[in-house]
Amino acid sequence: MPGVISPMRYVPDHIVKPDYADSGIVGRWDEPRIKDESVIARMREAGSLAAEILRLAGEQVRPGITTDEIDIFVHDLTIERGAYPSPLNYHGYPKSVCTSVNDVICHGIPDSRKLEDGDIVNIDVTAFIHGVHGDTNATFFVGDVDEQSRDLVKVTEECMWRGIDAVRPDRPISDIGKAIETVAKAHKYGIVRAFIGHGIGQQFHTDIQVLHYYDSRNNMIMRPGMTFTIEPMITLGTWQHRVWDDEWTAVTTDGSRCAQYEHMVLVTDTGVEVLTGGAGAVSPHAPYNA
Ligand code: MF3
Ligand code: CO
Ligand code: CO
Repeated sequence: MPGVISPMRYVPDHIVKPDYADSGIVGRWDEPRIKDESVIARMREAGSLAAEILRLAGEQVRPGITTDEIDIFVHDLTIERGAYPSPLNYHGYPKSVCTSVNDVICHGIPDSRKLEDGDIVNIDVTAFIHGVHGDTNATFFVGDVDEQSRDLVKVTEECMWRGIDAVRPDRPISDIGKAIETVAKAHKYGIVRAFIGHGIGQQFHTDIQVLHYYDSRNNMIMRPGMTFTIEPMITLGTWQHRVWDDEWTAVTTDGSRCAQYEHMVLVTDTGVEVLTGGAGAVSPHAPYNA
């Protein structure tokens, strides 16, 4: 159930903003898919900053906190670190982070709703700094969460990591969805189809598409220097979604719970580097031996 959305928050003038920050209009340009060393170095910084903000935001999660309070925390911390909170005014999105509770798949708008004991909440943090974006998310427990939901969250984290493990140069990007689908299917969970991983860099979303299920047509070849996200949304029931009248909040059509994890990765000469990973991350490495 939606709560009340507070007014858009202000970003001080010394923060370097992406093109859409004032207008809400995203200017698209033909950004190279293969990044140079300068962009990669800056994406490492943006990635580790987003990862740290996500971890600290997750530490705020408790029964009684509102998602608006989580937004204020992320907004202020991002600015304190010299970055712009990428979601703010992206295509008009009204807040600085996405908070998606229970049956919300993604793009939940922070509002006056208090988190309740037993909820699960995904926090999706994106930070823009040194001209590039870092994008990562994780799902957190609010107090005591039932066994079924805990299993969903655990399996979703594994889905993300099996997808990451499938990243190798000169292989089709569909290997990622194939790996994710194998895990989700074994648990009879749904894989959301409408929202996918994406190329990222100087722009929040670029043309690389990463499906989280297998489709032979998703056949772009992964090359060293490519950067994209892997962000499976896995449900206890259906893969189908609908969007609330706010035009952002995506929910499952059957009301089943949904979990999500997201990392931003770089294709290397030998495999993959997780740009939002490292010691400070919520999910720093695969929860199994690859
Ligand atoms: N961070 C989301 C993603 O993983 C995108 C959020 S778009 C917003 O792609 F406008 F809702 F912020
Ligand atoms: Co993303
Ligand atoms: Co994200």
